[in-house]
Amino acid sequence: MTGESYYDKNTANWDRESKHDPAKVRYIVDLLDLKGGEDILDIATGTGVLIPLFEEHDPESILATDISENMIKEAEKKYPGTDHPKVEFKVTDVYDIKENGKFDRVMCMAAFPHFEDKEKAVGIMADSLKYDGILEIAHPASKEEIAKMHAMHSGDVVGHALPEIGELGKMFEENGLRVIFERDDDDYYLMVGRKEPKTFSEDEMYKILMTEFEEFKDEGKDLYIDDLIKKMREELGTDGN
Ligand SMILES: C[S@@+](CC[C@H](N)C(=O)[O-])C[C@H]1O[C@@H](n2cnc3c(N)ncnc32)[C@H](O)[C@@H]1O
Repeated sequence: MTGESYYDKNTANWDRESKHDPAKVRYIVDLLDLKGGEDILDIATGTGVLIPLFEEHDPESILATDISENMIKEAEKKYPGTDHPKVEFKVTDVYDIKENGKFDRVMCMAAFPHFEDKEKAVGIMADSLKYDGILEIAHPASKEEIAKMHAMHSGDVVGHALPEIGELGKMFEENGLRVIFERDDDDYYLMVGRKEPKTFSEDEMYKILMTEFEEFKDEGKDLYIDDLIKKMREELGTDGN
């Protein structure tokens, strides 16, 4: 289940009724450590509140996604391509994002409670990052406040909540993200992680080599170095760039 219908229904009043504290949002974006030239993926962008803040850092591109068609329509109205040529919008469920290794930064603000399979969502966000890229899951409020707010809403967001911060940290680590910052207090719920380059130990390298060698031998083929490199790249999840 997702927050789709609740947000689709409430788009018209969204910006008026759910104002984030601008100082808090700025603090959240600062944690992304944008230097300029980054490819940014904004997951569950809503009406695109973060777009102007990203633009201040002169990124290479911004892909703003959301499951709600109405939210994306509203965001497109606010940030039309004519004035915002680096921004692209896409209606998509987080679980359908297949952008492996494309982004320097992935942001997910005020949406994580709505993702039913949280481990899977973190995995997809981590996969979208280039090595050394940064994922931030952020809420400009405490997890208790968020739970209270969703309990008061109607429709399909009732009961949506954030995990204990330690659990989220585990999900990061299990998906190759080293936690570089976390905060869980009365004002924020934040987790920032950096995607660590994957390396092979000698043993792992040997195992891959021998498996490949056996497979090729069984098929009566010779093993060429190009095939091996291809296999390594598949294991590393990189296109070699
Ligand atoms: C509280 S709004 C936050 C929007 C924006 N990030 C912000 O901070 O203003 C939550 C957003 O999550 C989106 N959402 C909920 N479930 C989703 C899913 N499975 N995939 C993508 N977006 C989702 C909703 O459509 C909604 O726009």
